[in-house]
Amino acid sequence: MPSSSSHKSPRVLFVTPEVFPLCKTGGLGDVSAALPGALRELKTDVRLLVPGYPSVLSGIKHKRKLAECNLLPYFPPATLFSSRLQVNESVSVPLYVIHCPELYQRPGGIYLDEDGKDWPDNAQRFGLLSKMGALLASDASPLAWVPDIVHCNDWQSGLTPAYLHFHSGKKAASLMALHNLAFQGKFPSDQVAKLGLPAESFSVEGVEYYGNLSFLKAGIYYADHISTVSPGYAREIQHEPLGFGLQGLLAKRSDDITGIINGIDTAVWNPATDPYIVKKYSSRTFLSAKKVNKLVLQREMGLEENGTIPLFAGISRLSYQKGYDILLQAASALTNFPAQLVLLGKGDPSLEEQLILLAQTDPARIAVRIDYDEALSHRITAGADCFLMPSRFEPCGLNQMYSQHYGTPPVVHATGGLMDTVVDLTPETLARKSASGFHFHEMTTSAFMEAIGRAVNAYCDAGLWKKLQRSGMQKDFSWQASASAYQSIYSLLM
Ligand code: ADP
Ligand code: GLC
Repeated sequence: MPSSSSHKSPRVLFVTPEVFPLCKTGGLGDVSAALPGALRELKTDVRLLVPGYPSVLSGIKHKRKLAECNLLPYFPPATLFSSRLQVNESVSVPLYVIHCPELYQRPGGIYLDEDGKDWPDNAQRFGLLSKMGALLASDASPLAWVPDIVHCNDWQSGLTPAYLHFHSGKKAASLMALHNLAFQGKFPSDQVAKLGLPAESFSVEGVEYYGNLSFLKAGIYYADHISTVSPGYAREIQHEPLGFGLQGLLAKRSDDITGIINGIDTAVWNPATDPYIVKKYSSRTFLSAKKVNKLVLQREMGLEENGTIPLFAGISRLSYQKGYDILLQAASALTNFPAQLVLLGKGDPSLEEQLILLAQTDPARIAVRIDYDEALSHRITAGADCFLMPSRFEPCGLNQMYSQHYGTPPVVHATGGLMDTVVDLTPETLARKSASGFHFHEMTTSAFMEAIGRAVNAYCDAGLWKKLQRSGMQKDFSWQASASAYQSIYSLLM
């Protein structure tokens, strides 16, 4: 196993259940491609470990078999393959893929079956990912390349730090990155033994969480360091309600928690080069170009083609977190303004149904697409005037950064990463040229509507709106700063 003296810069294994464009359900997929890409540009030897879902196996080229692994009697035999993930024109990241057909080769989603229910064997599916992460990060690894740090992401890799803790040989230090505490990977206690964890780990001082096994608690408890995807969220999770029951443990580990804001992948999200939009633009040419993109979007979505009416938009997983229940209530009032609304989302069936009904009330002004559509999400970000993000909580959030980068000022609930990345329009922030959107504080329809009203008023003042657009577009949301902050944690852990 390499020590810090054998090579200067740390080797990092990045264990993740999703990575764009091979498999993605939300922002974690984006981050898992862009952050390792940025780290490699900074000369950190980071490599990815992902499960071999069908889209991963069909999406990778030149895969090479590395090892056959029988990790535990509970896991079917698995084969480890290597390949590379091209994250932009000049950078690719080495990729390890776990091929285990019994656990990963099936139709449906990454976490959910075709009826939207959790796969019943998720403990096994992500237990295998966690266990493989721990194996590759220890002196028992079948590979010559052994990391100094294992960078785990969310509950799906939460058992990796626990397995490493109980491994008696040499092992990597662990970082547990928290992207969303609402998902914790809780399973019945009989999984503890099946997953090969010692009985003593099933305690308050360990993996136990109110009588169940919690993958996420395991990660938080045993990791050497913890990160969250914004400084605001790092503070929020140490209290109720956003600690989701883990606030006590997180507060105890307060000194080991670092909040680092995500960046955006400007190779994928760049209005000057975006292949999905009709008229490309920059912070100098955005005014006329955005209008072209807006008219094209209005036509595509069946809205009245009108260059002057403010066009609001939202793109989201449809879940309680994202506050679309509040958005639904606000939407009926929104059309009291001269305004249009376009929404793209998929998820909670009851929200999907309500959104479809909403669009039927005023099809010339409200358009809804129930789908997961990467290309359309780019066209909406470029064509809309203003982006809505009423999330109840938001660990970081990417769409508010994409929209600012595309000259589409956002209206956001003042929480977590939204608070950290959007500057509310006030006379002071306007004078400082930092204003880039609108905050609302109370999670109520009326507070949200008040912020939307402020946005409509600002939109009617063309000079003011242009200032907001420009300051959002000129902000640096690139990954460089965040990637170096992760490098500092890695150095600390070495
Ligand atoms: P979360 O990870 O909580 O869903 P983020 O804002 O971090 O939230 O990231 C969401 C990512 O998923 C963004 O890249 C967003 O564009 C994308 N996304 C969400 N829903 C859809 C959809 N229905 N169609 C296309 N992209 C979507
Ligand atoms: C989670 C969070 C989101 C964050 C993303 C990537 O899915 O909900 O706020 O941007 O992870 O870190």
